[in-house]
Amino acid sequence: MVDQFLPRLRNHYHPHVTIINAENAAHGKGITKKIYSSLMDSGADMITMGNHTWDNREIFTFIDEAKRLVRPGNFPEGTPGTGLRILPINNLRVAVINLQGRVFLPAFDDPFRTADRLVAEARKTTAIIFVDFHAETTSEKLALGWYLDGRVSAVVGTHTHVQTADERIFPQGTAYLSDVGMTGPYNGIIGVERASVTRRFLTGMPVRFESEQGPGQLSCVIIDIDEKTGKASGIERRLINEDHPFLD
Ligand SMILES: [Fe+2]
Repeated sequence: MVDQFLPRLRNHYHPHVTIINAENAAHGKGITKKIYSSLMDSGADMITMGNHTWDNREIFTFIDEAKRLVRPGNFPEGTPGTGLRILPINNLRVAVINLQGRVFLPAFDDPFRTADRLVAEARKTTAIIFVDFHAETTSEKLALGWYLDGRVSAVVGTHTHVQTADERIFPQGTAYLSDVGMTGPYNGIIGVERASVTRRFLTGMPVRFESEQGPGQLSCVIIDIDEKTGKASGIERRLINEDHPFLD
């Protein structure tokens, strides 16, 4: 779906920066070097991660050199990788921050205090700051969105795989969407093979999760940011699948 639609989306919107959450890119479990490179070749400028960051062990062999990859910044101290990267784009700098929620997810460091720290660090260099908040609940995501209003350009949620319809710009200029949704198999259950998910609900027994087959979906959000102030001026979410075809 990325190979097929990202070039068309880029052609349509002409984004300066393209950010992809890829924590499930390796068949649902982490990311490999090859997938990281292929996403870069498809037009990504930065990769964000989440609770599946370490699922594919290959990441340990390249995360230190992957200058265009962030993992949640509130992972315990001493963890490989970083939660903040600053991208040079033309004559500008764009900061990308990744954080992970604590509700229904492992209780790592406080994402709010970590955000304070990383945003302060980023603002030394640039006012254009994008935050991927990888979290389960809309309440935790909304809270961080409001908490960072006026301090960052955008807070976009990931992790639930289901796109929410609450895109907005907060009063102080931060664009917000609770969850951008997934890119993956459209007829699965959040991408996973339906039969195994259903079996798990029916029996409570452990099952092996594989990706569903069949047609795909791409979910994305396009955000306009004023390059001088770092404030957002527009936000548009999109869903591309067989029920919502892409017409450019
Ligand atoms: Fe996740």
